[in-house]
Amino acid sequence: MYDGGEVSGNPPIYEHLLGKLTEIYGAPALPTTSEFRIPVSVYTDEAQFQAERQLLRRLPIPVAHVSQLATPGSCLVHDAIGAPILVTRTRDGELRAMLNVCRHRGTRLMQDQGFCRVRKGFRCRYHGWTYESDGTLTHIPNQALFPSLKKEEHNLIRVPVQERFGLVWLVGTPGEQYDFDAMLDPLEEDLGPLGLESHVVYRRAISRRKTNWKIVMEAFLDGYHVRHLHKNTVAPFFQDHRSYTEHAGPHVRSIVGRTGFGEAIRTGRIEDIRDIATPTYVIFPNTIFVVQPGFVSRATAYPTAIDEIYWEHDLIIPEEPKTDKARAHWELNYELIQNGVFDGEDLWVCEQIQQGLWSGANEYLTYGTEETPIAWWHEELERRLGA
Ligand code: FES
Ligand SMILES: [Fe+2]
Repeated sequence: MYDGGEVSGNPPIYEHLLGKLTEIYGAPALPTTSEFRIPVSVYTDEAQFQAERQLLRRLPIPVAHVSQLATPGSCLVHDAIGAPILVTRTRDGELRAMLNVCRHRGTRLMQDQGFCRVRKGFRCRYHGWTYESDGTLTHIPNQALFPSLKKEEHNLIRVPVQERFGLVWLVGTPGEQYDFDAMLDPLEEDLGPLGLESHVVYRRAISRRKTNWKIVMEAFLDGYHVRHLHKNTVAPFFQDHRSYTEHAGPHVRSIVGRTGFGEAIRTGRIEDIRDIATPTYVIFPNTIFVVQPGFVSRATAYPTAIDEIYWEHDLIIPEEPKTDKARAHWELNYELIQNGVFDGEDLWVCEQIQQGLWSGANEYLTYGTEETPIAWWHEELERRLGA
């Protein structure tokens, strides 16, 4: 168990990752696998895409940080998960997630996507049925017109939601019970000790990009591209970059050495592991989680079409910036990571690949041994699609 005693507050599992990475720096491991291929049809087949969207609606996805839904009456309208969803913090302080659909004749209740405020409740624009922030149907204009209707049977339809690791996870399929632990327990050692519950979001980035979602996940499972694609942005932070990657249940856990790693290991002078190495996760199915020095990035690539994603990136920081200097510091990080690296390089290249897929140039894509975690991720996806 983590005893909270560590100065930097880093998860004890980082010691294990550090050990593995140190071995790799000492003697770079020879490949134990071979190169592999993935057929282009995996990204262009419409039937497969529909199956993937169905699968994603049955898995927990982190749609917000708890600070974004902290006050009673706060709410989030979210469509990208494949169902129209409404998440609210009720007056009693509970978190609820529901389908954003009126139980009379199905009108959308809250119109605009994004964060919102519920005042007294939700009133449907069509005939004025009104719901409490927890989804309870409270008012039907002219109720006498529905002589035998039972109000309590027409509350908004709930979907499973849970707070864990300071994030709000939801599943886009109706139901109240869901075994979140089966998916999230394998991340406990990594995300639990970070104490993200007390953090805040500096800024949320949202964009739509023309690429298949799997291409995006691959970009974050591949250490091979960093020194090339990112050479003008973050590559200098990862000079003679080496990485170690392993399974964490259905997820993938990596650590990448930063510039100065070799030196720090040699001299034994390590103040904070996060200064010399960066833990990175691909949380199955579609979330990227990067533990940067001093902050965390949570980004999710929701597939909205076979060749389109909705990108959502929260830059999560320890506390609300109180000074201009602090704000400037986070703005610089946001600019570099979101605009420079993610948007300007990773997602940019994903769009290039998508066009390449449609062109017919390749029947299959080729991957080297350093790209092996991509195979793990595809195996997990295939296993679940087959199940
Ligand atoms: S559809 Fe909502 S009140 Fe009629
Ligand atoms: Fe990248």
